[in-house]
Amino acid sequence: MTRHFLNLSDAGGDAIAAMIADAIDRKAARAAWPKGRVDADAPLAGHALAMIFEKNSTRTRVSFDMAIRQLGGSSLILDGGTSQLGRGESIADTARVLSRMSDAIMIRTDDHAKIEEMAHYATVPVINGLTDLSHPCQIVADLLTVVEHGVALPGSQWAWLGDGNNVLHSIVEAAGLMRFDVRVAVPEGYEPDPAFAAAAQAQGARITLTRDPLAAASDADIIVTDTWISMGQAHADEKLAAMMPYQVTPALMARAKPGAKFLHCLPAHRGEEVVAEVIDGPQSLIWDEAENRIHAQKSVLLWALGKL
Ligand code: CP
Ligand code: NVA
Repeated sequence: MTRHFLNLSDAGGDAIAAMIADAIDRKAARAAWPKGRVDADAPLAGHALAMIFEKNSTRTRVSFDMAIRQLGGSSLILDGGTSQLGRGESIADTARVLSRMSDAIMIRTDDHAKIEEMAHYATVPVINGLTDLSHPCQIVADLLTVVEHGVALPGSQWAWLGDGNNVLHSIVEAAGLMRFDVRVAVPEGYEPDPAFAAAAQAQGARITLTRDPLAAASDADIIVTDTWISMGQAHADEKLAAMMPYQVTPALMARAKPGAKFLHCLPAHRGEEVVAEVIDGPQSLIWDEAENRIHAQKSVLLWALGKL
């Protein structure tokens, strides 16, 4: 069966644990190598990855490109503006054609239904590089980063501050699969899709929703936030005002466990969702988190292509 990766649960907890372990090994094996050098075993030699971007990207684009190169394969990039998708060719036909021309498809798009349609018609793995609903590849990198910094995932306490968005959905999904707890502090009207919390709770994770940012941060191992205005959303002063009490500040970090870590998928807006003192401070893991997109993506590609 074709292994699509539209959400973390397509792989499941055991496969995600295997991805993290493999990423740690591969990262260590190539420490200090030039970034474009192919891993010694070149496990995806001869494989081609097609990437479609219907939204902007820096990290996802570069990390998937470097990931497939380091695994011995190659990539090609299409965007909405210059491919026939942008002129109305159907997702179904695009999926059929790319399945004949490449070994895997990564797509970043808006409506999650589009990626589900692509997976339905594709005969090669389809990987979610972010939709309005979820961002699973980012969270594999986040889990890797946290584990690498000595936090055991099961039973760990995460606090999310700000908007109930795509990144939060994937964190909550991960909580169910890897058995950690998430306190979600969001203003009224900006709650996440409750389906993710329900699924995670059914798997034994504690997901709690609060309006109190300090209570959410209390004794947390991990503090995480993201932009208040995601791609495709209109800039709205009203939303920014509602979010302001959820800004990550030194006072909020002080409520977390000593040594708590700060995560942000980037791009960041210093002075909005987080102040510079925190994101550029000693508890912030953002540069490891960004680098780990490469190592995590390699594991996702290996899993999708049946090598993990
Ligand atoms: N974090 C993340 O997905 O970054 P890009 O939008 O730059 O890909
Ligand atoms: N929530 C953000 C994540 C960007 C990587 C967005 O969708 O724009």
